[in-house]
Amino acid sequence: MRASEPLRELVRETRLEPSNFILPLFVCPGENVKREIGAMPGNYQMSIDQLVIECREAKSLAIGGVILFGIPARKDEQASGGYDPEGIVQRAVRAIKAEVPGLVVITDVCNCEYTSHGHCGKIVNGDVDNDASLEWLAASALTHAQAGADIVAPSDMMDGRVAAIRQRLDENGFSNTPILSYAAKYASGFYGPFREAAESTPQFGDRRSYQMDPANAREAMREIELDLHEGADMIMVKPAMPYLDIIRMARDRFEVPLAAYQVSGEFSMIVAAASNGWVDRERIVIESLTSIKRAGANTILTYFAKEAARLL
Ligand code: PBG
Repeated sequence: MRASEPLRELVRETRLEPSNFILPLFVCPGENVKREIGAMPGNYQMSIDQLVIECREAKSLAIGGVILFGIPARKDEQASGGYDPEGIVQRAVRAIKAEVPGLVVITDVCNCEYTSHGHCGKIVNGDVDNDASLEWLAASALTHAQAGADIVAPSDMMDGRVAAIRQRLDENGFSNTPILSYAAKYASGFYGPFREAAESTPQFGDRRSYQMDPANAREAMREIELDLHEGADMIMVKPAMPYLDIIRMARDRFEVPLAAYQVSGEFSMIVAAASNGWVDRERIVIESLTSIKRAGANTILTYFAKEAARLL
């Protein structure tokens, strides 16, 4: 059954489609800004006008959607740029909704891009205070929904954030706005290049007190269960390729849409190895995405979204 491409095609179990992909995008203040991110060739910090062009391209490639990360003009202790109704992401969502109708727009809900210290929540006595951070997250999610976001995606890993966001959305007439929860998010070294892109490297300590220990699998199931109980509509495992076992466990256990995030470090490793001629880029882009889908993730957040859509 492997002798020819038509035969292989006939018995192929896993098929990628552009609609499986979500393209992560970084939006920053200004006009006509398109700054390449050093460790992520082909990815940019973009002002809203450039972002809209990128979104048009994503739509024309039939990509499933985009997820937005904001780089605010100013960061402060209160992460106020995150829940400002006139914040960078809120304005970006409005622009995309007006100019690229029909494109699914997801917003990342987190504080780390907006705090001066780079942590995902409010610092009390030198550490992130879980419950005090929920208010900022709920306020951010509401302003994103008000701006027109199709889905809000909390990535902070505070306990209780899904319930806090769900309640805030419902109270304000957004009961139809789904929550994609970064439910099983590991404290990973693979986020390195992203922190350059989002300018969100913690100024002290690390995120191990709120993101998961890479050694734990059962705990991931518990995290997912809690988020579903709090009202998550869709769940995510992150990173993807080093955690295919977690994706498979989640797929076998939970009957909800499952996403996986092929994160910045996964992207950069492939790009770097390919640019040295050590691997065939196109081949392993498709192979890595196929493996993530085969493991059970129907939706894949990937910086290769446009490239893979073209290859398909
Ligand atoms: C924000 C957030 C991060 C990523 C997505 N949302 C960074 C982090 O937790 O440090 C990483 C994405 C990537 O590496 O591509 N909390």
